[in-house]
Amino acid sequence: MPVSINKKNSIPRLASSQPFVDFMADGWLSPELPAPIDACAASAAALHREKISSAYSGRGIMVFAGTAPIRSNDCYYEFRAHSDFIYLTNAQIESAVLVGHPTSDGHDFELFMPVPYTPGSAGFFSNAIHGELWVGPSHKPQDWRRALGIPVRPLQDLENAVRRGHFHAAGATPIEQLSDLNAQSSTALNRTLSQLRMVKDAWEVSELRASVDHTIDGFRQVLAEIPKAIVSGGERWLQGTFDRAARTYGNGPGYATIIGAGIHAPTLHWTRCDGPVREDQLLLLDMGVEERSCYTADITRTFPIAGTFTSAQRQVHDLVEKSHRAGLASLSPGKSFSDFHFACMEKIAEGLHDWGMLPVSVDEALSPTGQQHRRWLVCGVGHHLGLDVHDCSNSHYEDYQGAALVENMVLTVEPGLYFHAHDAMVPPELRGLGVRIEDDLLITATGYENLSGELPLDASGLEQWMHEAMNLAVRA
Ligand code: GLY
Ligand code: MN
Repeated sequence: MPVSINKKNSIPRLASSQPFVDFMADGWLSPELPAPIDACAASAAALHREKISSAYSGRGIMVFAGTAPIRSNDCYYEFRAHSDFIYLTNAQIESAVLVGHPTSDGHDFELFMPVPYTPGSAGFFSNAIHGELWVGPSHKPQDWRRALGIPVRPLQDLENAVRRGHFHAAGATPIEQLSDLNAQSSTALNRTLSQLRMVKDAWEVSELRASVDHTIDGFRQVLAEIPKAIVSGGERWLQGTFDRAARTYGNGPGYATIIGAGIHAPTLHWTRCDGPVREDQLLLLDMGVEERSCYTADITRTFPIAGTFTSAQRQVHDLVEKSHRAGLASLSPGKSFSDFHFACMEKIAEGLHDWGMLPVSVDEALSPTGQQHRRWLVCGVGHHLGLDVHDCSNSHYEDYQGAALVENMVLTVEPGLYFHAHDAMVPPELRGLGVRIEDDLLITATGYENLSGELPLDASGLEQWMHEAMNLAVRA
């Protein structure tokens, strides 16, 4: 039965009460905030702006940070700025827009951002997105101006500031607002940014190194929790363990964590992570920590939960290791990005042929019109890595798979074999086994450096490493 509502019994709207608004306006101290980003991050962003400025000289640029996606009603997923915006600013500011006005010798850059609601405005207590009582004390345009060394202005000034220009837009472009901003979504600008992001500078490499180190620590923590996961919690517990480590070291996982135990290991992106963990299984861990700078690692190893590989598990692991080593041997500046793909595939096809699993010869399988070995490896075996786990994916084939490797590129190599439990073409003893080995590689002047090389590649080394990680945990 609805009750009758009158002014007295309806819940008051705070912003409509002038005495309340007046009372909330006064008596707040100014909280101290640390600088929003450090000087190294700011210099890297400045360098990246210089690069896009010379690649895009004479043309206006507008790069959007984007907004958090809605989960339901007024609840949002966590905000993470578009990677192109981060590349140029290192700023995590929801709804912010970087504008580059073309000049005779480059661009004048300005950043536009929503100004947080502070004491004195009703938004301070009534706006759940930008009100400081809802989201905490936040950096103001002047804080960002000091940190980045470029003008930073309120977002409401944007339309006026771009009135006379024409802009190529990238990042999380809000299609419906572009014409009011004299901007057009630009696949060419996306492609250029993708290409620039392929070659990392020293600061980016150091962030990726930190991410790899933190991720390897996360591997240790996950292995240490195996006994608990077997008793209860299973894959969910291990996923939670890594994600907690990622959140503690950085922002969180750089992509949905993959924890595949037993028959889930062959599922390429097993992000459901809802199965049990049992002693007789393989455990495929594909995980990466996104640093606070938003650079992420992407590492995979496959461990025997019992601590020792069975002969069938080892057989599969050995072949993937052979393929992985062949891929690594193909990495050096000047070689094609695709060389490691072909090197990995050759070893996989040869091995499967030796096991009697291919219906054709190795040469026929490897020919473009064959590819039968790919039944058990349908995914790619490597990708660029950086702000995105699959970095630089706005590139064209000729700039990516068809291009030569260059010093300071960072990429993954990740061959695997995925034998589903319900695949009748797989010998019964191999069904339900999945193995992937994935490393993060920095191309150097003469070859490569394996950033994740602390993790062994071979089955015996992994047994030993796992043993040490679990023992360390027992002693701690
Ligand atoms: N490690 C996740 C992926 O490369 O797709
Ligand atoms: Mn990967």
